[in-house]
Amino acid sequence: MATHLTSSGIAERLQHVESSPTLALAAKAKALAKAGKPIVDLTAGEPDFPTPEPVKQAGIQAIQKNQTRYTPVAGVPELRAAIATTLTQQLGVAYQPSQVLVSCGAKHSLYNIFQALCNPGDEVVIFAPYWVSYPPMVYLAGGTPKIISTDEANGFLPEPDALRRALTPKTKIVVLNSPSNPTGAVIDRGRLKAIAAIALERDLILISDEIYDRLVYPPATHVSIVTAEPRVADRTVVVNGVSKTYSMTGWRIGYAAGPQPWIDAMSDIQSHSTSNPTSISQLAALAALTGGQEAVAEMRTAFVQRRDRLVAGLNRLHGLRCAVPGGAFYAWCNVSALGASSETIAARWLDEAHLAVVPGEGFGAPGYMRFSFATSLEHIDQALRRLEKWIGQR
Ligand SMILES: Cc1ncc(COP(=O)(O)O)c(C=O)c1O
Repeated sequence: MATHLTSSGIAERLQHVESSPTLALAAKAKALAKAGKPIVDLTAGEPDFPTPEPVKQAGIQAIQKNQTRYTPVAGVPELRAAIATTLTQQLGVAYQPSQVLVSCGAKHSLYNIFQALCNPGDEVVIFAPYWVSYPPMVYLAGGTPKIISTDEANGFLPEPDALRRALTPKTKIVVLNSPSNPTGAVIDRGRLKAIAAIALERDLILISDEIYDRLVYPPATHVSIVTAEPRVADRTVVVNGVSKTYSMTGWRIGYAAGPQPWIDAMSDIQSHSTSNPTSISQLAALAALTGGQEAVAEMRTAFVQRRDRLVAGLNRLHGLRCAVPGGAFYAWCNVSALGASSETIAARWLDEAHLAVVPGEGFGAPGYMRFSFATSLEHIDQALRRLEKWIGQR
């Protein structure tokens, strides 16, 4: 008889869940840097700016005022109210504070949603290239990811017709991520309306991950699906947070807003897992949302300059092709002309050019590479010079 020690002991639901293939590369990049190699790292999934000073001060004050105890599971009332007000203003759909759940990062919000809404076998539509954590989260909730590829020729935007074709009686949820990690694609209002119409017709739930909504660069503009078609608001959970907008990735505050019964169910799950997100971080997030927004504008200006420098530079290199992303801080570059898998090329760039980027495989899109421009212009220029040399020597 196999005991828990002779069998793996690991729960079966983890069979589809493995650490991201990109992590090995990131770990290698770190090890090389530690060993003194001059690594240029364009893998960052977070802004390189400090958290704005007034936000930091709010966190420090929270500690000094001993606001260091448990809070209500779903978040302090002032923060839930501020989030509801912000969402109501920005989305043009009314949200009550009770419809907001504050969690330990938007990743935790998404985890709670899938746990609350997936039954075994439920299909969850995810458009590829996708953010790496969506499929594992769906599997962990007992659901089945249904991946629909998008095309470079269409700007990696979700095609309503492709969605319609992929639907089965088991399809329950559609995940949207605009602006997208990794492509930076921003979904336009017309396309959102068409997807909303399908959701209404086929009784689908929508999850709209809008974590990069404030990092959008003219002429692109962010539109939420609930703004494009308010009739889907009662079947949509909007996800956002302070991580990217206010350079607060380490503070771990994200939130979800949507229909009351779903938010209540997610809150119940959270009550038995993490309880409230950190009290100090919640008060810092409150300051971020209600204070001056100058830091966001400054960061956006810097990102536009870096994006333009990086994308223009990549497109000058033989064998690379890269569209200008409308949002987020990633350039999504076609490397298929280089004649090897993106994982192989990424490993070679790391070894031979000391350049770290993330290959497309983990995002469900081989043949592409994700370059983060959440780094200085100097690093971007250095990366481009190294790539030019590497390509020249092939
Ligand atoms: C598309 C997307 N959604 C959600 C998250 C999670 O954000 P947080 O750091 O708030 O958990 C990220 C972070 O990389 C992301 O890129």
